[in-house]
Amino acid sequence: MNTENLINKTRLHVEKEMTGDGSGHDWWHVFRVWSIARKLGQAEGADPATVELSALLHDIADWKFNDGDDSAGPKQAGEWLRANSAEPKLIDDVCEIISTLSFKGAGVATPMRTIEGKVVQDADRLDAIGAVGIARTFAYGGHKNRLMYHPDESPVLHQNFDDYKKNTGHTINHFHEKLLLLKDRMNTDSAKRMAEKRHLFMEDYLDQFFKEWNGNA
Ligand code: NI
Repeated sequence: MNTENLINKTRLHVEKEMTGDGSGHDWWHVFRVWSIARKLGQAEGADPATVELSALLHDIADWKFNDGDDSAGPKQAGEWLRANSAEPKLIDDVCEIISTLSFKGAGVATPMRTIEGKVVQDADRLDAIGAVGIARTFAYGGHKNRLMYHPDESPVLHQNFDDYKKNTGHTINHFHEKLLLLKDRMNTDSAKRMAEKRHLFMEDYLDQFFKEWNGNA
């Protein structure tokens, strides 16, 4: 199968698998990540097939929905690509990206080895911040039955992936534990510029949230 057909077939497969999710990890999240990743990839001169397939498959079996198992994603992505006779090198590259992509807590570094990985990680992180990021964060919190906010519970800056996974805090804390940290963790210059705007929007949003919470707006 040529690369273009493989990408089209993968798109249809992922769309079918991920439609109808209400946690903010639905097909349209993947679609946005795919679109941003293509744009960043072009600007950075990354290999398009690796970028597109990694973006399309990056949440096919996320640890958040597989009892915390972070090997499920690369495993399923690898099986899909092998079943569709992708080149071994392409399969390895995509699986490596998917297995190293995720945010794992405020105190845990998640460096990406290749430019393709940097681009896809940036794209996934851009979709976690800004207006869309806010919407997704509350959707995920609702999906997990979490409070929007509790004034007595402060954020925790997790120092390892296990603690981050076990976290059940309210959604406003998640801004401090992850979302507001992402702009300084972007890999590419184009993503840094986009992140800056989205970050300011979140700061304004939180400002207004607390004014309203306290009856001052
Ligand atoms: Ni994602």
